[in-house]
Amino acid sequence: MSLFYEGFDPDIQSILLSQIRNLWTHSSTAIEGNSLTLGDTAFVLEEGLTVSGKPLRDHQEVYGHAKGVELVYRFLDSDTLNEKDIFALHRVVLTEAVMDIFQTVGRWKNEPNFTNYIGSDGRQHWRQFPVPENIPCLMRQWLNRFNAAYIQPQDMESAAKIYADLHLDFVTIHPFFDGNGRMARLLANLPVLRSGFPPIVIPTEARNEYKISISSYQETIDFLEGVKDIENFPINPERNYFRVLCAHYWKPTIDLLDEAKRMQHLKESGRISEDKGNDQGGQDGLSKGTLPENNIGRKGARKNG
Ligand SMILES: Nc1ncnc2c1ncn2[C@@H]1O[C@H](COP(=O)(O)OP(=O)(O)O)[C@@H](O)[C@H]1O
Ligand SMILES: [Mg+2]
Repeated sequence: MSLFYEGFDPDIQSILLSQIRNLWTHSSTAIEGNSLTLGDTAFVLEEGLTVSGKPLRDHQEVYGHAKGVELVYRFLDSDTLNEKDIFALHRVVLTEAVMDIFQTVGRWKNEPNFTNYIGSDGRQHWRQFPVPENIPCLMRQWLNRFNAAYIQPQDMESAAKIYADLHLDFVTIHPFFDGNGRMARLLANLPVLRSGFPPIVIPTEARNEYKISISSYQETIDFLEGVKDIENFPINPERNYFRVLCAHYWKPTIDLLDEAKRMQHLKESGRISEDKGNDQGGQDGLSKGTLPENNIGRKGARKNG
């Protein structure tokens, strides 16, 4: 298994991991209404300082998500994901939650939950997610699908499809009282990362398109609250549309990775011309998309991630 951030010099790897973490954290929390900008998020995470006038809760959310990203990288050491891992991640991500018996952090929800959506008739409707009694079974099925996809490396096209399906199924099951979106956007990336790609990050600007596509898919499921079997989630044009969106949303992190490769190339070129004291820089056979062989262990990466 080779990960997207391996093969770089430590300084370049550290910047790449910070950029990915900042973008992932900012986008995923901003989609849920967090008021910190990408610049604020980078500032808070890199300097450990607060942004004056912005809510404490928004800072906590950003910290929780960034810690969640670190835990996700650690999950890559194991070949399988289990329920306990998901609960551990939920506790890390939901640092802002005030504990009470109805806010079940680190456990499945214990009361029904709903959302408001605009139907194809242009009116507002209630949507009830699967009832708490059905969650343990649905999530066992979700984990089975996850682990089946997780064992083997995927090519780009299938990695994007697996991401989209795991993501859409997770948010449609809606197993937690809160944090379902952030959890889905972290967990569904594990097979993507394990296949050597950078994470897919839903852009903040795509928030509406993203939510409407999830809602349109759920409209195709009769009696969602009573669903007991994940097989009842159809493969249909609405699901295909969500898959297309996810593949499309991949570009910003792929661009960040390409930039880091370019910096690595520049560094290698500079190093060679300095060593040899001549103009051989750039002749080292490194082309865009090709990483040098000096793999760095993931421990170093984690510290910075
Ligand atoms: N019908 C829907 N409309 C919009 N978003 C939905 C819908 N169903 C599920 N979702 C997902 O639920 C997320 C919000 O749920 P929530 O539990 O509050 O997560 P978080 O706390 O991470 O925001 C959205 O980001 C989206 O991924
Ligand atoms: Mg929420």
